[in-house]
Amino acid sequence: MVDAKILNSISSRARALEASKIREVAELGMKKDGVLPLWFGEGAWSTNPLIVDAAIASLKAGNHMYQPNNGMMALRQAICTYSNELLSSRLNPAQVTVTPSGMQGLMLTAEFLVSPGDRIVAVEPGWPNLIGAFKATGAEITSVTIVPKDGHWTLDVDGLIAELTPGTKAVVINSPNNPTGWIMSDEEQCLVLEHCRRFGIWIVADDVYTRLYRHGRHAPSFLSITEPEDLLISVNSFSKCWSMTGWRLGWIVAPAVFEGKLGQLTEFNTSCTAGFVQEAGITALRDGEEEIASLLEKIQTGYELSAERLNTFSRVEFIEPDGAFYCFFRVDGLTNSFAAAVEILEQTKVGLAPGVAFGPQGEGYLRLCYAQPVDVLEEAFVRLEPFLSK
Ligand SMILES: Cc1ncc(COP(=O)(O)O)c(C=O)c1O
Repeated sequence: MVDAKILNSISSRARALEASKIREVAELGMKKDGVLPLWFGEGAWSTNPLIVDAAIASLKAGNHMYQPNNGMMALRQAICTYSNELLSSRLNPAQVTVTPSGMQGLMLTAEFLVSPGDRIVAVEPGWPNLIGAFKATGAEITSVTIVPKDGHWTLDVDGLIAELTPGTKAVVINSPNNPTGWIMSDEEQCLVLEHCRRFGIWIVADDVYTRLYRHGRHAPSFLSITEPEDLLISVNSFSKCWSMTGWRLGWIVAPAVFEGKLGQLTEFNTSCTAGFVQEAGITALRDGEEEIASLLEKIQTGYELSAERLNTFSRVEFIEPDGAFYCFFRVDGLTNSFAAAVEILEQTKVGLAPGVAFGPQGEGYLRLCYAQPVDVLEEAFVRLEPFLSK
C-alpha cells in the first residue's frame, strides 16, 4: 500500500485524471492472444508504402534533428494547399501548427484556451480524451447531448446555443462524431458560428473524421465558413484516413496572430514533431487521395457487414452513422457496459469499447470499430452471437 501522503503529493491536475475506460478494456485484452481488437478507432491496414518510404528516405538523408516549434514550413504549406482545395478554406501557413498527434493538438488547444474554472460546452456522447484534455486543464464542462430521434442521431442546436452564454470560453464540437457518427450540418454550423462571433466564444472543432464521411468527399467543416481571424481552432490528424495511428502526427489551425504563442506552448510540451514523420505527412497529403478512396471502400464493406449482422439481433438497436467508422449500438437490458465489455472480452475474445466511456449518456451502448477486413468482422460476429442474442 502506498502512503496516502505520497499519493496526494502529486498535482491536483494529475490526481483528478480519470482513466479512459476504452483503454482499460484494451489494456486487459492486449495481454491475451487471439483477441479481435475492435475497441480503438484504428483501421487494420498498414500505412501506404509511399508514405513509409518517404519517412525512410528522410531518415536516411539525415533528417533526425530538432524542427521548428510550429512544424516544417513545407508541411504547413502542404496542409494549407490540401485544406484550401478540399474545403475552400483560405488558410495560410501562419495559421497551422504541426503536432505529434491529434491528441497532442487537443491538449495544446486546452492549454492554450483554458484557465481553471473556465466554462466549456461540449457535445456528448464524445471521445473521452477530447473532454478529458479540457477537464485536465481545469475547465468546468457543460454537456449538450446528441440523442436518437426518428432513426438519426440529432443535436438540439437551439439548446446548444442557449448554453453558449456570455462568458463561456469555448464550445467543443466533434463532427463526424466519435462514437455516434453524428454530423453537424452546414446550416447548424452557420448558426453556431454566428452566435459565437457575437459573444466572442471560441469554437474548437475536432475534425479528425472529416474525410470519413459517408455522403461526400468531406463532412461539413467550420473551415469552409470561417474567416482566418475567427476564434476557431480546428484539430486534425493523419491517424485515421491515412492509416497512420502509430506515427503520431496531426495539426491544428488557429488565428495567425497566435502562431508565436502556440510555438511557445509546443516548446514546453514536445518542442517539435519528428522531421521524418513530417516528411511522411507531406507525401500523405500530396499523394494520398487514392489511399483515402481505398480505405473508404474497405470501411464501407465493413459497415455493411456489421450493420447487417447487428440488425439480426432483436436486443440490438442501432442507428446508421453518417461518418467516422463506428457502430455505436444499444443492447436492450444492458446496464453496465464496462462490465459487459470486460465479460465479452473474457468470454469471446472480441475487444469492444464500453458506451459509458463516452459519457453517462452512453451507458447501455457498446462501440465497435468496423475498419477491419471482412473475415475478422465475420469471426467477431460469430463470437458475439451468444452474447447479443441471449
Ligand atoms: C474524436 C477524436 N479526436 C482526436 C483523436 C486523436 O487521434 P490521434 O491522437 O491518433 O491523432 C481521436 C482518436 O481516436 C478521436 O477519436
